[in-house]
Amino acid sequence: MLDTQISLKEHDESRQGEALILEGDKEKLSGRKLYIESYGCQMNFADSEIVASILLDKGFETTSDYKEADVVFINTCSIRENAEQRVRNRLKEFESAKSKKPGMIVGVLGCMAERLKSKFLEEEKLVDVVVGPDAYRDLPNLIEKVDDGTRAVNVLLSREETYADISPVRLNTNGITAFISIMRGCDNMCSFCVVPFTRGRERSRDPYSIVKEAQELFNDGYREVTLLGQNVDSYKWSLSETENNQDETVITFAKLLEMVAAVDPLLRIRFSTSHPKDITDEVLHSMAKHENICNYIHLPVQSGNSRVLELMNRTYNRDWYINRIDAIRSIIPTCGISTDVITGFCSETEEEHQDTLSIMDYVKYDYAYMFAYSERPGTLAAKRYEDDIPEEIKKRRLTEVVTKQREHSHYRLKEQVGKTHKVLIEGFSKRSDKDYCGRNDQNAMVVFPVDPRFKVGDYVTVMGLDCTSATLIGKIID
Ligand code: SAH
Ligand code: SF4
Ligand code: F3S
Repeated sequence: MLDTQISLKEHDESRQGEALILEGDKEKLSGRKLYIESYGCQMNFADSEIVASILLDKGFETTSDYKEADVVFINTCSIRENAEQRVRNRLKEFESAKSKKPGMIVGVLGCMAERLKSKFLEEEKLVDVVVGPDAYRDLPNLIEKVDDGTRAVNVLLSREETYADISPVRLNTNGITAFISIMRGCDNMCSFCVVPFTRGRERSRDPYSIVKEAQELFNDGYREVTLLGQNVDSYKWSLSETENNQDETVITFAKLLEMVAAVDPLLRIRFSTSHPKDITDEVLHSMAKHENICNYIHLPVQSGNSRVLELMNRTYNRDWYINRIDAIRSIIPTCGISTDVITGFCSETEEEHQDTLSIMDYVKYDYAYMFAYSERPGTLAAKRYEDDIPEEIKKRRLTEVVTKQREHSHYRLKEQVGKTHKVLIEGFSKRSDKDYCGRNDQNAMVVFPVDPRFKVGDYVTVMGLDCTSATLIGKIID
């Protein structure tokens, strides 16, 4: 323990899994302004909505201007070195606001908080509170500690916390699309990845609380939910004896999808992230069966080479991945597929990099998120392998992957020209309020002229007329 003023012992095994029900004093906290900024994956953004809910419940109000906030939170990501650097730069910008506003509390939440724990307080003098992803219920209490002059840390990970009972307060919402966390943590140990360390053990959330949240969103006018987990295919919930209806005791991800799809045919369902080792044909059949489960799968490949995949500890090889792609194409022929790719992983040769390019040619992804390998402290790869691919080679390979993906994205969009698409109107186009924008089933962004017969939140049939490298351009036909 590096700081004398830590309020809770970090990562104390004996307390893991213990529910923290710590009541902050509503009187003391009410009327204060909360500003929260989020980085990283969709799960982090969803968590910020949990944090807002916990504090609004204590009387806080939100603000979109950090300079006028009483409490400034930054919900952080550790996935790559540059993600952490962005947060540190941002914290510097908060310094002058804090010096002008005595009493302002600056807090670091999320994965970087979990990774660095109390070290954060030493490294960044302006930070008052450091809170890991499983400790948000403790926030009111921690804020009170800071009020009393104590810098505070709670980075306890839990085996049970899913925040199932907390209704997220939707932040920066378009009122049409929302995220629902269905599980937390990750039990895979991909050798490059920091997530198992920052998010702890995998646990699934009660399916009935998920369906209830989807239903409430639908009642509030939302028309699309994205179910979130690091590996949604390993979602698993065992019904207790009392709920047991004899033949079905376990809710799998396929079953959960069907339960959410049954909320209303007008509610679209998306999900992320699927893991190639775990995605089952059962899930694909559920998707094929339900019109409102979107035909779109994010299936990160990471590398197209089996030796590299083994070093990455992804637990599938090239042939397995290709088999899963073939299963998707045969069960859901029109499915959109996107991926994640890492270039320049430890010891990756030029030939092995070519295997990544060739698997991209095989799949022709609709979209991809592409990264140069960034070594993360504490991961298996950092311990076992040398980060031996020079930065300029990682970058050059990344450029090749990006160039290829650009061609494929364009190819996939061109395929959609001349066809009709069911599009959910999400809002007005960024470029012009004379155009609407929304996504088709395959998750392609579609832009089309406003038609006064239809409003945001309606489904429309759009004919694809043209495309740019990233957007389909169309026209409503009914
Ligand atoms: N759970 C998801 C991935 C979550 S992290 C899955 O298993 O696919 C999102 C993406 O960040 C990963 O898919 C990977 O492509 C990338 N990533 C993770 N760690 C990285 C690292 N150390 N360097 C570069 N990219 C990384
Ligand atoms: Fe990280 Fe692998 Fe878990 Fe994804 S599945 S979060 S890449 S450890
Ligand atoms: Fe980043 Fe944590 Fe998500 S490391 S990608 S915010 S789970």
